[in-house]
Amino acid sequence: MNTEEVTCVPFLETEDIYKSFNHVQALRGVSVNAFGGEVLAIVGDNGAGKSTLIKILSGVLQPDRGTIRIEGKEYKKLTPRKAAESGVSTVYQDLALGNTMNVAANLFLGSEIAKAGILQKRMMCREAERLLQNLDIHIPDVSMPVAELSGGQRQGVAVARLVHKGGKILIFDEPTAAMGLNESNAVLKLIKKLAAEGFAVIVISHNLPQVFHISDRICVMRQGRVIKELMTENTTMDEVVAMITGASTTA
Ligand SMILES: Nc1ncnc2c1ncn2[C@@H]1O[C@H](COP(=O)(O)OP(=O)(O)O)[C@@H](O)[C@H]1O
Ligand SMILES: [Mg+2]
Repeated sequence: MNTEEVTCVPFLETEDIYKSFNHVQALRGVSVNAFGGEVLAIVGDNGAGKSTLIKILSGVLQPDRGTIRIEGKEYKKLTPRKAAESGVSTVYQDLALGNTMNVAANLFLGSEIAKAGILQKRMMCREAERLLQNLDIHIPDVSMPVAELSGGQRQGVAVARLVHKGGKILIFDEPTAAMGLNESNAVLKLIKKLAAEGFAVIVISHNLPQVFHISDRICVMRQGRVIKELMTENTTMDEVVAMITGASTTA
């Protein structure tokens, strides 16, 4: 294999994924791929199947049919554990952080640094600072309880924890939905930084200006199908809106 082929292998790939809930066909043959170094935005109206697809990628739901490939390895279904072990990390809206615990403790939850059974708090704080700094996440003091942070900072901590645990693809479902402008901007900056560092990033968002600001590629879903994949620089918001609503004749 030459180097060109190597760089073209997606980190994550789905092929012809189907999923139904009783009589509702949530996904009808979805094939998408995500590459390291790229922000892929998935857009679509309510009910298009975006969250169902993300849940399948993170192992929360199992597909009825289809294949998932992670770094070339094929799976018919994933469990949350298998997905996490394979580097697939989902940044949930509720973030699942321990509110009363400080930033460093959150980052190392489940992988605490101990020597002879004694927690190395100073070392964990230093390591936490380094980890956050590498991702340009600004948190004044890692010994602060997470409850005192802004929404954007909390998201930063959640992302840093996933990266620390070996996440290679980070999936965000409406990451700025409940945030003000400053916080949203911090999260968007973090998403771009992750892609610049070589991570694969998938973002689901209703906010098209944001989608156009951060994404390299846009995947439009409608009624359980991917109806179009576009390079962001080659399309317009009007065109994408038309595809989302079904008004487009080209889709
Ligand atoms: N657990 C579930 N049980 C029944 N129907 C569901 C369930 N989850 C999603 N659906 C249905 O599947 C379709 C796709 O939903 P979803 O993936 O949440 O869409 P989106 O995230 O794009 O808004 C919708 O019709 C929704 O009502
Ligand atoms: Mg959804």
